[in-house]
Amino acid sequence: MKGRFITIEGGEGAGKSSNLDFVRRYLEQRGVELVTTREPGGTPLGEAIRAILLDRRNREMADDTELLLMFAARAQHLAERILPALEAGKWVLCDRFTDATYAYQGGGRGIPGERIAVLEQWVQKGLQPDLTLLLDIPVEQGLARAGARSAPDRFESERIAFFERVRAAYLEQARRFPERYRVIDASRPLAQVQRSLAEVLEAWLAER
Ligand code: TMP
Repeated sequence: MKGRFITIEGGEGAGKSSNLDFVRRYLEQRGVELVTTREPGGTPLGEAIRAILLDRRNREMADDTELLLMFAARAQHLAERILPALEAGKWVLCDRFTDATYAYQGGGRGIPGERIAVLEQWVQKGLQPDLTLLLDIPVEQGLARAGARSAPDRFESERIAFFERVRAAYLEQARRFPERYRVIDASRPLAQVQRSLAEVLEAWLAER
């Protein structure tokens, strides 16, 4: 039996880590055998690529280099972790996936979606998440929350206009793929966000 593939997306300060943890516990309590992972990363090679991508010293990185490194890490992640888990009937919960590429490299950097789609088809061969939870938060509010954390990485050092384009691109993806997308208003207190997540998951599981 094939497992299910669930992704969590969101801009800076949307509360992705604590909500990912909530979703993981929610599914495990229902007896789901779950692999939790993240992008870019998820494998030793992928984590090495992640370090290059996030390193602020790599400020000269060309947009296409960034895009190709995202998909290089993803190809490894699919081959080494995601596909074997799904084929073994396990569920995969992934902190970001290709929707983040449409949002950051597409919306943020301005790379046309058709070019991203070529790599998506090449690397994923039609594989898409079964469910994508988008934690949506106004940019200024998200940045204010994220600002309290450690030194900014290469993406976190971007300007507000970049994150506005990222958010708009995520919302556009949600409109394009209403079947698999669920948009959660993450501007609310954590307890309310998690109540919504539980409702969404309950309804989604009941549909299966
Ligand atoms: P994280 O902060 O959620 O761990 O993600 C690391 C950064 O990588 C985040 O700023 C978003 C960025 N990213 C992309 O730009 N494109 C992608 O495809 C992915 C997966 C992440």
